[in-house]
Amino acid sequence: IPHPGDTTGPPSLFRFRSRTRTSLRPSLLPLRDMGMEMITNVSEYERLAKEKLPKMVYDYYASGAEDQWTLNENREAFSRILFRPRVLIDVSHINMATNILGFDVSMPIMIAPTAMQKMAHPEGELATARAAASAGTIMTLSSWATSSVERVNSVGPGIRFFQLYVYKDRNIVRQLVKRAEMAGFKAIALTVDTPRLGRREADIKNRFNLPPHLVLENFAALDLGKMDKTDDSGLASYVASQVDQSLCWEDVRWLQTITSLPILVKGVMTAEDTRIAIEYGAAGIIVSNHGARQLDYVPATISCLEE
Ligand code: LAC
Repeated sequence: IPHPGDTTGPPSLFRFRSRTRTSLRPSLLPLRDMGMEMITNVSEYERLAKEKLPKMVYDYYASGAEDQWTLNENREAFSRILFRPRVLIDVSHINMATNILGFDVSMPIMIAPTAMQKMAHPEGELATARAAASAGTIMTLSSWATSSVERVNSVGPGIRFFQLYVYKDRNIVRQLVKRAEMAGFKAIALTVDTPRLGRREADIKNRFNLPPHLVLENFAALDLGKMDKTDDSGLASYVASQVDQSLCWEDVRWLQTITSLPILVKGVMTAEDTRIAIEYGAAGIIVSNHGARQLDYVPATISCLEE
């Protein structure tokens, strides 16, 4: 992981993206020769990030809401689901490819939207877009990315979805959805679990705010790319002033009148809401508790799938 201020080229860790699978191992060795730590497990990124990122930034990425019970449960619930292995099956050729809304992906893993990625690295969402494309899977770009839909599109081909927050000013929404369409995004993931921002206590303590050198690029031209300085979380007050708290099922229909892109309702956790989403014309749902960052004391997402 390079230092956040390092703009001298792609992080060496990502070098293996341009190599074929068979050369993955050799390409990792120089890292160790360079005195860099070899990462063998994705969970190691957490400790490394804590070492390298400013506390305000690390806490924003890492925190859940309130007591963070659900944050813990999101991990625990996964760890309670065990494999039931079957043996003596020919695994010399493995194919994990599947299909999402008609788009082929190399594996049943996609990149969920996360906001403000340039706080972690100058390439932010652009690096994520390249990585997703080279892994053959779909990236969903956050409305609150620090790279615009157009900039992300400019990195090259790749299947991308756009995560949408509905602003009180619906003209903003219309324009943004059009821009996402023009920039080649293939679906809208409408976030429905954030009429108010979850209470993230670390962000309140740190008075979280977007670092001054960054901007929410999708909103820069509208003069809504910055957050006001407040006594608590700058993001929480941004949400309170801009996001439409009256968002309801009728708006899922309204969205279909302003775009021909399929609408995914993101943040559904019950069978009841799934049925309603289908009734209102959603192309799909994303079962999610927003990474435990919204309502605390809800089940882990993985625990809701069966229902
Ligand atoms: C968050 C919002 C931005 O969880 O989605 O921080």
